[in-house]
Amino acid sequence: MTLFTGVALVTGAASGIGRATAIAFAVEGCRKIAICDRDAAGLEVTRTFIKDVDRQVQGEFEVLVLEVDMLKEGDIEKMVNETVGTWGRVDYAVNAAGLFDLPRVWCGVYTHTNQDS
Ligand SMILES: NC(=O)c1ccc[n+]([C@@H]2O[C@H](COP(=O)([O-])OP(=O)(O)OC[C@H]3O[C@@H](n4cnc5c(N)ncnc54)[C@H](O)[C@@H]3O)[C@@H](O)[C@H]2O)c1
Repeated sequence: MTLFTGVALVTGAASGIGRATAIAFAVEGCRKIAICDRDAAGLEVTRTFIKDVDRQVQGEFEVLVLEVDMLKEGDIEKMVNETVGTWGRVDYAVNAAGLFDLPRVWCGVYTHTNQDS
């Protein structure tokens, strides 16, 4: 019994939150999962993890691996078209592609020069 009887599409699925989400969909019984990212090698690792889940529960998962640059509108259109073309719909979409781009914190040793001495 699963809550996720439909089609999941996850971007940023080659790493971090996106990968964890894609695997979580599989663990929760979602059988049609599109994993999308610009990092093809990372996507392959995610696909392997989902296959491991599949082996354990014999869920007969279908995984669509899509190499996509989310900065390119054409890639995004292709991603949606390929997913809908394959399964006819998207029911759950998780957009986790992105960069954790915190400003660099300067890290060093402060030296104080006493101008009066
Ligand atoms: N991890 C955190 O604590 C945290 C906290 C707040 C917000 N976020 C945000 O959540 C998102 C995911 O974080 P994460 O920790 O999983 O990062 P991550 O670096 O582990 O994963 C991000 C994924 O996005 C992909 N990606 C980046 N730019 C892309 C593009 N243009 N097209 C396709 N794929 C692209 C990367 O290849 C990578 O696989 C980021 O936007 C991050 O800023 C993360």
